[in-house]
Amino acid sequence: MKILKETKAFETVTSELLIIGVRKNSNQVKGWEQFISFFGDSFEEFIKSGDIDTGSKKLTKIPVITSNQNLKRILFVGLGDQKTLTDQILRETFGLVGKELKKLKATNISIWLESFTAAPIDENDIAFLSAEGIGMGYYTIPHYKTTSNEPNTYIESVEFVTEADIDELVASFKVGKVYADSVNEARSLVNKPPNLLTAPDLADYAVELAKQYDFEVEILNKAELEELGMGGILAVNRGSSIEPRLITLKYKATEEWDQVVGLVGKGVTYDTGGYSIKPKASMVGMKGDMGGAAAVLGAMRIVGETRPDQNVVAVIGATDNMISSDAMKPDDIITTYSGKTVENLNSDAEGRLVLADAVTYAKQQGANYLIDVATLTGGVITALGFDKTGALSNNEAFFDAFIEASIETGEFVWGMPLTENDKKRIRKSDVADLNNSPGSDGHMIFGGGFVGEFVENTPWIHLDIAGTSDSKSGNDIGPKGGTGVMVRTMATFIERFQELQQERNSF
Ligand code: BES
Ligand code: ZN
Ligand code: ZN
Repeated sequence: MKILKETKAFETVTSELLIIGVRKNSNQVKGWEQFISFFGDSFEEFIKSGDIDTGSKKLTKIPVITSNQNLKRILFVGLGDQKTLTDQILRETFGLVGKELKKLKATNISIWLESFTAAPIDENDIAFLSAEGIGMGYYTIPHYKTTSNEPNTYIESVEFVTEADIDELVASFKVGKVYADSVNEARSLVNKPPNLLTAPDLADYAVELAKQYDFEVEILNKAELEELGMGGILAVNRGSSIEPRLITLKYKATEEWDQVVGLVGKGVTYDTGGYSIKPKASMVGMKGDMGGAAAVLGAMRIVGETRPDQNVVAVIGATDNMISSDAMKPDDIITTYSGKTVENLNSDAEGRLVLADAVTYAKQQGANYLIDVATLTGGVITALGFDKTGALSNNEAFFDAFIEASIETGEFVWGMPLTENDKKRIRKSDVADLNNSPGSDGHMIFGGGFVGEFVENTPWIHLDIAGTSDSKSGNDIGPKGGTGVMVRTMATFIERFQELQQERNSF
């Protein structure tokens, strides 16, 4: 993004495209008189007649000829009823604007800020949401066709037509853009084919991120994992000819390495199911089984850009789940890094084995709070569908704070119960401490609950994104494919961590 500037008058707008919010009572907006006197009364008529649609999320594009030679058209953005307009609706509306801008190939835009103002959304939030929504809406999946990829760059310049303080608006807009760009990076990781994104590739990506944002980074290879006795991730990796990696990034915000939030991601770069092989139709799409890792890396990118006053450690277990003569078998007994043993009843329940070791390692690296995020079970889809992330937690206040962050970002998270009876079933085995597949009834809870066995008393949230990480149809803020879900919520949670903690008298 090259230019960010303001203009106070329509005469001096320098872009070809001006974006204006409209609703039935737009004529009450500050600056409306100037608008009419510059563009003419007919626009008021168009709004009254419905030729410019004021309905929520309705876009109307109109060419204009004025004394301003730069300006070629206006994109009117319907805001619907002001009383029902929320941050999320505005985010989604700007997502649709982003899709439209892509169609128009418009990269230099002007936004008349005051036309979007509506209580309780203030000007800085509008600036933030416009950048976030447009950025996410603009995203296109990189492809491998022989035709070249369209560049994913958007907004080379933006100009606000406003009377408001431009410095704050610019700052908010820039943060919104960081959020969108980071979501889009996570999406691209999820969308990458598995032959082009292996565990070592994922580790290389993390190293690059660390260089860019000055994170401490550690990559453990197979020999090092063997040395440490990380039997969980190694068991999953046994069927593969590609090495696993355990990726650790540290963002140190304070002198003392305390109050550390740990983000733990499942980075299964391909899940065949192993010897408990998936039916062929369910295997397609399993390139996205590293969605948790992508979410963690996306959130870390935001942390790297915005540099909050909060220590963070990220741990990602990366491997694929393949079949060979040496692959793990149902009936195998696995000794995890924690020392706990697991009876492998289903080699397709591999994510929890990887997470077990990653969680133990995150605790060892100083995590005082844990969030694990994973495409862990089909069960969460059965329970909640494709638009809600399923969650478990062992700490009510900690979970409540996370929900607050998720409401701010508009990403649905729904808590599920983890009962003593569930735990009993996870611990039921004649030959080991735990089993990795207690049954198919309500099994989202068994998947997350298994990870909880390694968390012990650390405040913890488990996020099962199997339904939400990959979208079959796309939505207002993005195309089908990787969604980058939980990137924004985890980053917002980290950004607001201390405040959320104080509001609840600690966790
Ligand atoms: N990676 C899958 C979960 C998944 C399913 C992700 C659909 C995305 C879309 C996971 O490793 C898995 O296979 N889970 C099994 C668990 C079962 C064997 C206990 C499942 O959900 O069937
Ligand atoms: Zn699996
Ligand atoms: Zn999996």
